[in-house]
Amino acid sequence: MTERLSALFSLKDEVVVLTGGYGLIGSVLAKGLAQLGAKVAAIEPALDEAKTRALGNAESTAVFAADVTKRDQLQRALADIRARWGAPTGLVANAALDSPPDAPAEENGPFETYPEASWDRVMEVNAKGVFLCAQVFGAAMAEAGRGSIVNVGSIYGVVSPDQSLYDYRRADGETFYKPVAYAASKSALYNFTRYLAAYWGPKNVRANIVTFAGVFNNQDPRFLEAYARKIPLRRPGREALANMAAAEDYLGAVAFLLSPASSYMTGAELRVDGGFTAI
Ligand SMILES: NC(=O)c1ccc[n+]([C@@H]2O[C@H](COP(=O)([O-])OP(=O)(O)OC[C@H]3O[C@@H](n4cnc5c(N)ncnc54)[C@H](O)[C@@H]3O)[C@@H](O)[C@H]2O)c1
Repeated sequence: MTERLSALFSLKDEVVVLTGGYGLIGSVLAKGLAQLGAKVAAIEPALDEAKTRALGNAESTAVFAADVTKRDQLQRALADIRARWGAPTGLVANAALDSPPDAPAEENGPFETYPEASWDRVMEVNAKGVFLCAQVFGAAMAEAGRGSIVNVGSIYGVVSPDQSLYDYRRADGETFYKPVAYAASKSALYNFTRYLAAYWGPKNVRANIVTFAGVFNNQDPRFLEAYARKIPLRRPGREALANMAAAEDYLGAVAFLLSPASSYMTGAELRVDGGFTAI
């Protein structure tokens, strides 16, 4: 029984493609999924030796150079992954662009003047990139007759950014609004995921989406304070993080969706947000 139970959550026979493997969350997922037994094929547009080494053992983790917006590069990565470990059985579409706090002023300015070029760039990576990864890696899974796609959503793809969280920046004299493209691009992934679930269900390829909330990343204490008020969940010993998530908080949900434990689950959303969207 114990053996059967541990097989339920095992990633031992999985070859998981993880886009954005060098990132804040991606690097934690890469390390964690490998520790849970998967072979992890991270995808990044530019290889970096130090960052690759930091992901761990080359036996279980490798980084393949590809931009998720370039189909030919993804196809080359697929061929290289196949040659190394065989057909992928999992895809975590994690790579995305958000506007960083130090983005050009017009990108974080009023909606009325949000630059068209920024809209296109964010949509290109966050929506088209996820579509292309599903086409390339999902098709390989459908051909092999099994697979699990995990798209990475966001609370800002489910509810609007609460602009009052950023009052502190306006109090400092900045014109700051959390921009629109990230939220719009993330929201597209929810029905895209359901589309894939319906389309590839007969081929035994599942598609689900995880919704993540903000990750602690040394944000301004005034932001952390405002954000904490929106999170009902309180965890002992986590005051320093103002009860924001750590990237580690998301590993369990992703591993579950890749594992046999979720084998009857497709077209679903798994929300890991500390209750942000519950209130
Ligand atoms: N950090 C958060 O607070 C938060 C909250 C909710 C959801 N998310 C979601 O989690 C995921 C990871 O976020 P993160 O904070 O780790 O991001 P991050 O910016 O730290 O990492 C993103 C990674 O994606 C890679 N990338 C960017 N463009 C790419 C492209 N064209 N092709 C291939 N790779 C590319 C980058 O090089 C980077 O390593 C994203 O989908 C994000 O929307 C993050």
